[in-house]
Amino acid sequence: MSQKITFSNGKLQVPSNPVIPYIQGDGIGVDIWPASQQVWDAAVEKAYKGERKIEWKAVLAGEAAFIKTGEWMPAETMQAFKDYLVGIKGPLTTPVGGGIRSLNVALRQDLDLFVCLRPVNYFEGVPSPIKKPELVDMCIFRENTEDIYAGIEYMTGTPENQKVKDFLINEMGVKKIRFPESSSIGIKPVSKDGSERLVRAAIQYALDRKLPSVTLVHKGNIMKFTEGAFKNWGYELAETEFAGKVFTWPTWEKIKKEKGEEAANEVMKAALAEGKILIKDSIADAFLQDSLLHSEQFSVIATLNLNGDYISDALAAMVGGIGIAPGGNINYNTGYAIFEATHGTAPKIAGKNIANPGSLLLSGAMLLDYIGWTEAADLVREAMGKAIIHKTVTQDFAQFMDGATELGTKEFSNEIVKQL
Ligand code: NAI
Repeated sequence: MSQKITFSNGKLQVPSNPVIPYIQGDGIGVDIWPASQQVWDAAVEKAYKGERKIEWKAVLAGEAAFIKTGEWMPAETMQAFKDYLVGIKGPLTTPVGGGIRSLNVALRQDLDLFVCLRPVNYFEGVPSPIKKPELVDMCIFRENTEDIYAGIEYMTGTPENQKVKDFLINEMGVKKIRFPESSSIGIKPVSKDGSERLVRAAIQYALDRKLPSVTLVHKGNIMKFTEGAFKNWGYELAETEFAGKVFTWPTWEKIKKEKGEEAANEVMKAALAEGKILIKDSIADAFLQDSLLHSEQFSVIATLNLNGDYISDALAAMVGGIGIAPGGNINYNTGYAIFEATHGTAPKIAGKNIANPGSLLLSGAMLLDYIGWTEAADLVREAMGKAIIHKTVTQDFAQFMDGATELGTKEFSNEIVKQL
């Protein structure tokens, strides 16, 4: 009998036949959804021999919903994600006029999914633009609810814009707006609460998986009270809530000041040898360079919304790009989570059995990890890795691989099932 996933005492309670709502998605959703579901179901069957099984519950959103119901985001769909806690979605068409942007945003805001989680791992054989992609093993925690994405913007020429500028110039004495007559204005809220819950989730993730470090990526050198505060709050939280489990960069600096660099290095080395996690920070522009040149130095990345947007796509490109990059939006305090293919609907190749199902497939593996079915998740990743090593891949990869066998979406997933 199918059952609901629930959340109590800070933990997901997962029955053996959980109902999981899904949005197939528009465009290539029709290709990649069935291909992926086949692999997940086979992996779960293989891992648990029939003792566990997902009951998939189709819900509508996007163009498919609009055609059937006249609504881009039917209320039942939102309710299903609330009722069943954990869900997954394919890509959705953005209608002209922008209704659906509020759809993705509505899901994130209504469920307060404050972490956008993007693992970045290399699969041997995947075409990559960098020299040593095998050194890339990172996981990005992007803050999902604040920053310039809060949408507090005032277009120049509007009365609202004038009101904000009058306040800034006349009441706050701001003199730094270069062209006050023609400036649009955007507001960047970054809170202590929002920063702390993000950094807390990132450190906990690193601890649970015994990962070596968490890097706070920011532009605190320029935006001191938003980006800089994010870094400071992050370090404070690490030192108070995770005392004894982490070693922070400010601690290294303090020891260096008191006893010299060698002593600081010794203490740090000993702490890391004991299994403590290194908490460090990096300025966003330097990070983008260093992550390319010294990928091995980074593991978990915690960052604000806009930096996270850029970083997610830049790192994804290092290990194969959007056809294969998975993602999830999660609230670790309530359990709500929606996993998703990170690319769009790819309308030109939709319905042609060409698309790479990798992004959705790996997002499903993240979902399996999230509900604690890690054996099945590992099977999905391993089998996909084997299909790639054997050079049996979809068109987007085959064109850059010597001697590859080009497979359709369905045939690629059949091959993965064979490799399970
Ligand atoms: P896109 O991601 O759909 O396509 C960009 C390029 O990547 C295209 O050349 C496409 O063919 C290719 N591509 C994407 N996914 C692929 C896959 N799985 N396998 C092989 N090739 C793949 O981005 P685009 O063209 O900007 O957007 C198309 C539509 O998707 C728009 O309506 C957009 O608003 C929507 N979109 C929805 C998102 C979501 O629901 N999360 C995210 C991004 C875009």
